[in-house]
Amino acid sequence: MEKRYPVILGIESSCDETAAAVVQDGRKVLSNVISSQIQVHKLYGGVVPEIASRKHIENIDGVILQALSEAQMTWDDIDAIAVTYGPGLVGALLVGVAEAKALAYALHKPLLGVHHMKGHIAANYISNAQWQPPFLCLVVSGGHTHLAMVEDYQHYRILGKTRDDAAGEAFDKVSRALGLGYPGGPKIQAAAENGKADAIHFPRPCLEEEGYDFSFSGLKSAVLNYLNQQEMKGEAVQAADVAASFQAAVIDVLVHKTMQAAQAMGVRRVAIAGGVSANKPLRKALEEACAKEKMEFCCPEFILCTDNAAMIACAAYYEYTQGEHADLRLNANPNLTL
Ligand code: KG4
Ligand code: ZN
Repeated sequence: MEKRYPVILGIESSCDETAAAVVQDGRKVLSNVISSQIQVHKLYGGVVPEIASRKHIENIDGVILQALSEAQMTWDDIDAIAVTYGPGLVGALLVGVAEAKALAYALHKPLLGVHHMKGHIAANYISNAQWQPPFLCLVVSGGHTHLAMVEDYQHYRILGKTRDDAAGEAFDKVSRALGLGYPGGPKIQAAAENGKADAIHFPRPCLEEEGYDFSFSGLKSAVLNYLNQQEMKGEAVQAADVAASFQAAVIDVLVHKTMQAAQAMGVRRVAIAGGVSANKPLRKALEEACAKEKMEFCCPEFILCTDNAAMIACAAYYEYTQGEHADLRLNANPNLTL
């Protein structure tokens, strides 16, 4: 008889994407449905939590059914239901958690609670079938900037994190100040293509410090101060130059700290994850830095960088195969730590 690999339905609703995916054997994505709410939230310049929760409720059933149908699966084919239970927006998380619990209960399937960041890291396993721990991972998203040593599929050691704003948050805030819109990352990246990265010298926070912590709020303030000064002097602002100079400062810090940590930890393998890892100049800079040091580099394909449920099902697979299940007391935890 043909060996039957576990098939996991993943659900993700921690921020402004309602997503469901069916993943077989941990890494084979059979469907990956993402319903983005960007069109709604961009009217407000950022994610409005109350609206996000309501949109998740409207969309989640349809998204899950579409994921099943695209995977050509029925409920009988699903071995477990996995869901992001934190960190994130509590109201948004609750929609996914309640849905997953209802499905697990009604269908008598095991329930798996997944940490959102573990999901982002797992996106690398999908994009590179050979990739496995141990490795160092830079997790950069709208909510996180962490340097994590991934010791094995279950164990992570945080070497450093941001003391204030996450890298993605800084992209979003600077984009808003430049009037480029939401989400800021892709807008800044696009604007920067026509700008000069050395036009304005913005600070590189934490670069000279020991340790692996980050800080982006000072850099964001430096950009805002620059914009104010230009306005007061009556001088025009070249948005492309500001975007390129800001992006270069962020990349400098991220790449420098990551390489420093990789060397100190003696790892030869470096990965990147989270929404900001979709940033092309960042991927290129880290890839080049790794090549220079003869280290292996892995990054998820673009669709798996930002929020999706395939990464959640993939991370859940490694819990499932260890026999680690949640029960119906699983609750959303907006401040869940790794
Ligand atoms: O991982 P994600 O979808 O959600 C969170 O878990 O936060 O990340 C969203 C963040 C946003 O701040 C967005 O501006 C940023 O990722 N982002 C980017 C790019 N694409 C998305 N930042 C820089 N460059 C990009 N191309
Ligand atoms: Zn995320």
